[in-house]
Amino acid sequence: MYTTIQFIHSYWAYLVLFVVLIATINAIAGFMGNKEYGPKDFRLALFALITTHIQFLIGLVLYFVSPLGLQNITNNGMGEVMGNSLFRLYAVEHPIVMILTVVFITIGYSKHKKKLVSKPKFKALAIFYTIALLLMLSRIPWAQWLDL
Ligand code: HEM
Repeated sequence: MYTTIQFIHSYWAYLVLFVVLIATINAIAGFMGNKEYGPKDFRLALFALITTHIQFLIGLVLYFVSPLGLQNITNNGMGEVMGNSLFRLYAVEHPIVMILTVVFITIGYSKHKKKLVSKPKFKALAIFYTIALLLMLSRIPWAQWLDL
């Protein structure tokens, strides 16, 4: 169970990063270039929303089955987890910041949907997706993930 969920979370992350990156670049390009918002832009924004939400759900399950998630806190105590940068990243920082990431993507998506013209649509996506992307990049356990 644990290894399967960990495997899916680890590989789905490539898709999440890729799609959010493309959706963000597309939104910035649309805003800067005064482009007309079309079905392709909608699909990209939606795909970013869906993939991050799925990753969030997988991550939530993982948090309860991984020795690096909640079990780390219950077994070692909060003091020890906070004192160890890798433990802190997995059990505290990564989950909290990734939840924020999902919140920013969701706000950006729903704000953009409510706007009626192209420029504000791209603006909402560009702002919120960029923040989400930066947050995501800041709290991925890069060395462990890419086995560096
Ligand atoms: C939504 C965006 C998210 C992304 C892009 C993401 C990405 C990743 C990546 C790349 C890893 C490293 C995997 C590896 O070392 O093979 C990881 C590990 C982990 N993530 Fe996430 N994650 C996200 C959300 C979450 C959430 C919301 C939670 C919990 C509530 C979570 C909990 C965990 C845990 C506990 C691990 C460590 C698993 C282990 O190796 O035992 N993640 N995540």
